[in-house]
Amino acid sequence: MCGIVGYVGSEQAAPILLEGLTRLEYRGYDSAGIAVLTGSGPKVAHAVGRVRDLQAALPKRLSGKVGIGHTRWATHGPATEANAHPHRSADGRIMLVHNGIIDNATALRSELEADGVQFTSDTDTEVLAHLIGRSEAPALEDRVIKALQRITGTYAVAVLDAQLPDRIVVARQGSPLIIGIGDREMFVGSDASALVRHTSQVVHLDDGELAIVTAGGYETFTADRARTSKQPEELTLRADELQLEGHDTFLHKEIHEQPTSLERMLSGRLDDRFATARLDGLGIDARELRGFRRVKAIGCGSSFYIGQLGASMIEDLARIPADAEAASEFRYRNPIVEPDTLYVAVSQSGETADTLFAVREIQRKGGRVVGLVNVVGSSIARECDGGIYLHAGPEVSVASTKVLTHMGVGFALLALLLGRVHDLSYADGARIVAGLRALPSQVQQVLDSEDEIAVVAKGLAQSPSSFFIGRVRGYAVAREGAQKLKEISYQHAEAYQASELKHGPLALISPQMPTVAIVPDDELVERNLGALHEIAARSGPVIAVTHPGVEFGDLAAERIVVPHGEVELDPIVLTIPLQLLAYHAAAALGRDIDRPRNLAKSVTVE
Ligand code: F6R
Repeated sequence: MCGIVGYVGSEQAAPILLEGLTRLEYRGYDSAGIAVLTGSGPKVAHAVGRVRDLQAALPKRLSGKVGIGHTRWATHGPATEANAHPHRSADGRIMLVHNGIIDNATALRSELEADGVQFTSDTDTEVLAHLIGRSEAPALEDRVIKALQRITGTYAVAVLDAQLPDRIVVARQGSPLIIGIGDREMFVGSDASALVRHTSQVVHLDDGELAIVTAGGYETFTADRARTSKQPEELTLRADELQLEGHDTFLHKEIHEQPTSLERMLSGRLDDRFATARLDGLGIDARELRGFRRVKAIGCGSSFYIGQLGASMIEDLARIPADAEAASEFRYRNPIVEPDTLYVAVSQSGETADTLFAVREIQRKGGRVVGLVNVVGSSIARECDGGIYLHAGPEVSVASTKVLTHMGVGFALLALLLGRVHDLSYADGARIVAGLRALPSQVQQVLDSEDEIAVVAKGLAQSPSSFFIGRVRGYAVAREGAQKLKEISYQHAEAYQASELKHGPLALISPQMPTVAIVPDDELVERNLGALHEIAARSGPVIAVTHPGVEFGDLAAERIVVPHGEVELDPIVLTIPLQLLAYHAAAALGRDIDRPRNLAKSVTVE
């Protein structure tokens, strides 16, 4: 999704902007651009493609110490140089980069065109550049405020004025924006990774805030010019965490980081004395926890699927009703928010617009919502009423892997805590605590069988379409497995409840349609094997992801066997081979694994 970077200081701006844009590449984008205020006026360059294409397109002389840059993920208009940011006002004086969507851009565009303004792009953003350019307010920040008052929608913007070459004016509403503090230099970014090489001190703008950023500092205020006071925060991200460290892709690196990152996440959170979890960040005491009669997880994409897995853990361990819903749907259906429901917002980035707006809708209706979030200080983490940080470290690859496993563990901890304030016995609590402690080594055992999984994946890669099936706890695992394969290999995969196969999709089973079947050794194993009989009778090839000791006879040509732990936690381990399956299928097909086409890491538009 679009990325913003800005610099004002005593160094040359262009190399810093390009480096920041390169670090934002992982978010997914299709074109890029920068604007620098030079001694001979503003210089703007755009390119379709990667940051290296932009570098090649830069003018020879680009000496200037103030600038802004942008990576664009097309929403209004295709990926072309004309549509790439920065956009300029008609007189060329104002330059602007924007993340988000201006909802009333069409009406404003018609109004401006009727007034003689000629547009050079198809974007919604250009409207804002013209509105600022045409404002008669004396100060740049007042022009920005006046222009923003005319638009509805979401934005993070960084604005340059060729006649004020000492400053960047920034504003935020619904899209993240961070100011990085340096020594007589300042940075602006939509994402900490753009700033991490230069500073570890940052300030997060809140919705409705603006700032004037100069080399000497920053001043934050609201649209009515009331000053706001901000406390700088320490970045937890380190620049060396963004290196490949010998792996061919970030996805592969992130899959292999899981045993270590899970140990880190669990550290200090398991309480042996009371056989429960320690989750102080939730900010909810035992009495309040007992009062919740229901849990609802909300998230998007894979985070929604893990919410579904989490709901089944909560029902298993705490015996209170729990379910999951796509945040993107929840917020649009006038949801009934109940006071005795605990809402859990699930998000890697903490910036997914649909999830963030769902959080606000719940809070507006008086509901209690906690976050299961990876990025520290992100919007969802800050706006929730407490939460569980996932501590997975940065996830660079667009497709999520390790953070999803951490989400599963986060839900297991929450389910354990809720269980122990309800009716989960000490003995069962202790069993889950031991099961959680064993998870990192079980994940490592799956990773140790990567070579065998790679062979199975090469076969699967040849099929343009496949089924992923699972039942009850295994269904969320199947959904996530199909999602991963689709995202990074571009082969079609469809997840189904194993029980539903005979109600329709069985019609598609043939020797050309493989099925990846999640068959844990649990109380449903016979039922799952029953579904495999139905597939075998139609000569459908089966790849079983299963536990030691399950007898398949001729039902599954391929088997991937993972260690068997506690049944409630097993789905977490069962997702790991599916990550490797997707990775090796995508590698066999020569895909751009870390940057799958059409997708973005952090979906900050609705
Ligand atoms: C899948 C994937 C997406 C995200 C979804 C939510 O691999 O990465 O489906 O899970 O866009 O993103 P977050 O978790 O950042 O809210």
